[in-house]
Amino acid sequence: MKLEEFYKNKRIIITGNTGFKGSWLTKLLLQSQAQVIGLALEPPSQPNLFTILNLESQIYRFNHDIRDSEAVTRIFQQTQPEIVFHLAAQPLVRDSYEQPLFTWQTNLLGTVNVLEAIRKTPAVKAAVMITTDKVYENKEWIWGYRENDELGGYDPYSGSKAAAELAVKSYRRSFFNPNDYLTKHQTLIATARAGNVIGGGDWAKDRLVTDIVRSIFEKKEVITLRNPQAIRPWQFVLEPLLGYITLAKRLYEGEKAFADAWNFAPDDSNFITVEELVKQAIAISEQGSYQIQADPNKHETNLLKLDAMKSKSQLGWRPRLDINETLNWTFDWYKNFYQNEEMQSSTSRQITEFLGLAGET
Ligand SMILES: NC(=O)c1ccc[n+]([C@@H]2O[C@H](COP(=O)([O-])OP(=O)(O)OC[C@H]3O[C@@H](n4cnc5c(N)ncnc54)[C@H](O)[C@@H]3O)[C@@H](O)[C@H]2O)c1
Repeated sequence: MKLEEFYKNKRIIITGNTGFKGSWLTKLLLQSQAQVIGLALEPPSQPNLFTILNLESQIYRFNHDIRDSEAVTRIFQQTQPEIVFHLAAQPLVRDSYEQPLFTWQTNLLGTVNVLEAIRKTPAVKAAVMITTDKVYENKEWIWGYRENDELGGYDPYSGSKAAAELAVKSYRRSFFNPNDYLTKHQTLIATARAGNVIGGGDWAKDRLVTDIVRSIFEKKEVITLRNPQAIRPWQFVLEPLLGYITLAKRLYEGEKAFADAWNFAPDDSNFITVEELVKQAIAISEQGSYQIQADPNKHETNLLKLDAMKSKSQLGWRPRLDINETLNWTFDWYKNFYQNEEMQSSTSRQITEFLGLAGET
């Protein structure tokens, strides 16, 4: 069964629905006629995709803090979702140095609160908990990290996300053990690790694409690179989202082996340095310039590669866009936005085209 058909009329809760990835996921699922429930704070930036796509009017929205355990459980019990995508987080490394406590509370205890709510809501059949590629203990080696590699995390963001992985694993073993599926419980839970997602509609501060967009399209300050030689796995936002919804479907269908951790990473050609990405963005946009200004106070990793072999071989997932297409799709979106085009239909068009490439239409 195609994904669009599967998601029709499913009741789905998305935490972090007002954010960049949450808004794309909401739009994607609404296109499949799913019923979407959102649980998040206000959108994290101005402008933001949630408002641009007018998603508020198309979903059941709860404006709550996931650190509030009682509220989270109450919302789950009230709405009885069948599928959970947990994306709510404080997702910025630099902010995690400014606000370590908020970061840990949101990323770790927020995840535990969602796990508790799931435990108390038997209607939930599948949950995909989103962490990051930064959960691995980074050894700065050339090989890609596999799902069973050591977890770690240097800064409060990475550490709190690695801790969220452990919390999910502990809940899975204790309360949602695949061996007890359908005898003691009816929920399968997985984690999904991806990184450096780019696409239209992200204005989060401290993100490279935001800096590029502000510089090129808003003619604000010159793009400043803090760590130009850092190699990152750039991927278009719909790539990991396709992974998440494929994974949730398999869990929902009762495939116990899928209740595990999954990497979603681009092919090797999409692992390029920050500086190369900026140069390509400037070439595509035919404008803009950059400067290099290292921040000696902040630790940043230079090399971080993920191995997505498991997702490819077992889930049948694979990346669809190469680095040029990834950048073209991203900057086309912003170009349309800054030319005041109507963004609902151009966003829908990208989703439809992407699902077509993935053989899902
Ligand atoms: N964007 C990336 O490149 C990237 C890479 C790896 C992992 N991730 C993960 O993907 C998820 C989504 O990231 P994003 O880029 O869309 O982030 P974002 O900042 O755009 O959105 C974050 C969302 O979380 C919500 N949120 C934050 N704190 C909250 C709280 N205390 N209570 C309730 N809601 C809260 C915000 O309201 C927002 O809806 C996060 O878990 C992030 O760690 C993102």
